[in-house]
Amino acid sequence: MNDAVPAWQIRAERAEDSALIEALNQTSFGPGRFAKSAYRLREGVMCESALGLVAVEGGILRGSVRFWPIMVGDEKSLLLGPLAVQPDQRGRGIGIALMKRGIELARATDYHSILLIGDEPYYVRVGFARLPPGRVRFPGPVDPARILGLSLKQGALLTQSGDVRRARIDVPFCADGAPLFAAPAA
Ligand SMILES: CC(C)(COP(=O)(O)OP(=O)(O)OC[C@H]1O[C@@H](n2cnc3c(N)ncnc32)[C@H](O)[C@@H]1OP(=O)(O)O)[C@@H](O)C(=O)NCCC(=O)NCCS
Repeated sequence: MNDAVPAWQIRAERAEDSALIEALNQTSFGPGRFAKSAYRLREGVMCESALGLVAVEGGILRGSVRFWPIMVGDEKSLLLGPLAVQPDQRGRGIGIALMKRGIELARATDYHSILLIGDEPYYVRVGFARLPPGRVRFPGPVDPARILGLSLKQGALLTQSGDVRRARIDVPFCADGAPLFAAPAA
């Protein structure tokens, strides 16, 4: 059951949170996370620093959410995740609160939508819905029932379609990931 008045606060992620967030993601997802489709879209790309959030309580990291820039067809979109909460702190509303704050911040940006690969019964609580099969194509094998989206601009998901690609390369260390978004010739 969620606390009536949460003792934890949500704040922007800071550089010094990085190591703890990595440790939390390692605990929550294990090394297998790097093999997932979503990670192909993160390789060599920095997350949106303005949207990285942590939940802290008494100076202790309780949870974290990050968002990555992606392209869906030729539209700018965000990929939600990783979202993780310390195992002994789950069920307190931290995950939902992190996502709600992130979505609120993302609405003030020029991104059209947020996509994620995850469990519909959880993410439906913050407004995500399953996309029609085949509408967007992630790199690698993905269960279509787990491709969820949320419009940041009215009706964005009704028109968005195509391949999901990395939005850019910030750190060119990997040549085997998803193809880069190719801008149309001027
Ligand atoms: C998923 C996760 C972030 C949820 O964090 P949390 O802080 O416990 O979530 P909240 O407290 O906001 O919400 C808990 C509610 O969501 C439900 N829930 C949690 N994970 C769920 C899932 N995968 N599917 C359906 N419901 C889920 C809980 O049963 C609980 O329901 P209740 O409110 O009816 O009791 C956390 O369990 C976690 O870190 N898991 C490991 C990493 C992971 O799977 N991340 C998500 C994929 S990116």
